[in-house]
Amino acid sequence: MLFAQDICIDPGTSNTRVFVKGKGIVINEPSVVAVDTAGGGSVEAVGNEAKEMIGRTPGSITAVSPIKGGVIADYDVTAAMLRRLMKKATNNAIFTRIRAMICISSGTTDVERRAVHLAARDAGASYVSLIQSPMAAAIGAGLSVNRAKGCMVVDLGGGCTEVAVLALGDVVSSSAIRLGSKDMDEAIIEFVRQRDNLLIGERTAENVKIKIGSAALYEGESALSVSGRRLADGLPGSAEISSADVREALDEPLKKIVGLIRSTVEKTPPELVGDILDSGIVLTGGGAQLRQLPKLIRQEVKIPVRVAENAQNCAIRGAGKCLTNKVPNENA
Ligand SMILES: Nc1ncnc2c1ncn2[C@@H]1O[C@H](COP(=O)(O)OP(=O)(O)OP(=O)(O)O)[C@@H](O)[C@H]1O
Ligand SMILES: [Mg+2]
Repeated sequence: MLFAQDICIDPGTSNTRVFVKGKGIVINEPSVVAVDTAGGGSVEAVGNEAKEMIGRTPGSITAVSPIKGGVIADYDVTAAMLRRLMKKATNNAIFTRIRAMICISSGTTDVERRAVHLAARDAGASYVSLIQSPMAAAIGAGLSVNRAKGCMVVDLGGGCTEVAVLALGDVVSSSAIRLGSKDMDEAIIEFVRQRDNLLIGERTAENVKIKIGSAALYEGESALSVSGRRLADGLPGSAEISSADVREALDEPLKKIVGLIRSTVEKTPPELVGDILDSGIVLTGGGAQLRQLPKLIRQEVKIPVRVAENAQNCAIRGAGKCLTNKVPNENA
């Protein structure tokens, strides 16, 4: 006899999370796959294991991030990653039919939706349904999306930012840009490259953002020393970067994010804007944890803003709630 197992997957640009009905979030790992280019592109490891392997193994093994800007960039590698993660989440159960609900960005095109659907089927799911990330994130943040009153959620992930107004269990309006917290890391790399002629790595830049990054002045600002490779002679070098420097570096991506929120507010019907003024904007996703981000958004759009609890896991938690409580989701 075949058993059925209901699971949710949130395949993000930075992290992939898997929720298993009855168990909760069982996987939360980087969306990284170690591919052996010498072995015909065979997948050697995924997630944490893949991240550990990089740099410690022969040169033919490279790290691939199959999801970019919130959508599948490498189909085969994504399917391979999903297959491994689904097996891990269901403990390799062979006689189990997997019904998978997948979180997708609201800006996803029909072709991209189809790709997600097929990748999940190729990875072994016998039934696939899709749920829009902002809807899942809002439910995971504890918002009552089924009421007639509107609410607004901003999901700031690694590779994309989505803004959505939700009411009566539906997405009333939404906007998305393929720009997220990873682009802030890139902006820090670019800042140091231009100012200090020094090339720093992605992990160093992310560390700077998390340790001293902010969207507005904050109490306890400080500075960090960063190491990298000098562009002039290729030798190791270091430079100091302060909280104010990081703010300058993040100015551009933050302007785009705030601009997206502002334009979504502008195209929202006035009644709903009134509701949002009451309930406030809720921020979800890993990038929402940037210091003073609520303050900057509040200043720019004149609406109260708060960060959801456990912001990074809102989408997968919300999708999991849908599985359990049958809150609306979208079949593809
Ligand atoms: N404390 C923090 N401050 C600022 N940024 C943070 C913090 N913690 C994590 N992040 C950033 O959050 C991002 C990951 O967020 P998340 O896991 O929500 O993305 P994702 O779901 O994989 O991506 P997407 O939804 O865009 O496809 C990373 O870029 C990470 O650097
Ligand atoms: Mg996400």
